[in-house]
Amino acid sequence: MTTIEAAIAYVEKLFRNNSGGHDAAHTMRVYQNALRIAQSAPDCDREIVALAALLHDADDHKLFRTENNANARAFLNAHSVEKTERIIEAINAVSFSQNRGRRPETLEGQIVQDADRLDAIGAVGIARAFAFGGEHGRSLNDTIQHFHDKLLLLKNEMNTPAAQSLAEERHAYMLDFLTQFTKETESARREAFICPPDKNA
Ligand code: ADP
Ligand code: NI
Repeated sequence: MTTIEAAIAYVEKLFRNNSGGHDAAHTMRVYQNALRIAQSAPDCDREIVALAALLHDADDHKLFRTENNANARAFLNAHSVEKTERIIEAINAVSFSQNRGRRPETLEGQIVQDADRLDAIGAVGIARAFAFGGEHGRSLNDTIQHFHDKLLLLKNEMNTPAAQSLAEERHAYMLDFLTQFTKETESARREAFICPPDKNA
């Protein structure tokens, strides 16, 4: 078994109890996105990109109570990966810069951040947003607000040209979705006005 295959098995086990937006399938999509972006970035270290993508949510504070990237480190140490510190740096740059609006300093961190952001937009991004809203008891309209607050901004926040171009189609799809959503909900409001609910019902 290669280190990559072992990392895939490790995250599948780690995320077994999670559903919706943060399951092992999210990690696998981020990994695939990262490999695609890396194809257009010949200077990047592919091993760091691949392992940082696979382990990028392994110590996410929303999911795990670990300190100092304990889950990622446990895997990397068990497999004697030599670039552990650079991989951990890339993983931490993804969430750190999300919180503070800073761009990851390394190319590998930038690629994994872009890969993670691509999974927050497009059809998958729409599905994840509503899965998140459902888990948190939010209305559909509250989740629509998240598109305007965050998801529609991501296209212009990509670090790499490859991710920018991958984001275009996904962004356009979200705009279409929002147009259709507005159309359907507006007509529902109009019909309610024409035919108000029975006050005695
Ligand atoms: P990750 O850690 O993978 O970058 P997050 O934990 O920030 O992702 O978010 C997980 C998913 O939930 C994303 O698809 C994100 O768009 C969605 N999400 C986060 N906050 C909200 C919110 N307030 N409303 C709807 N969706 C949200
Ligand atoms: Ni993620």
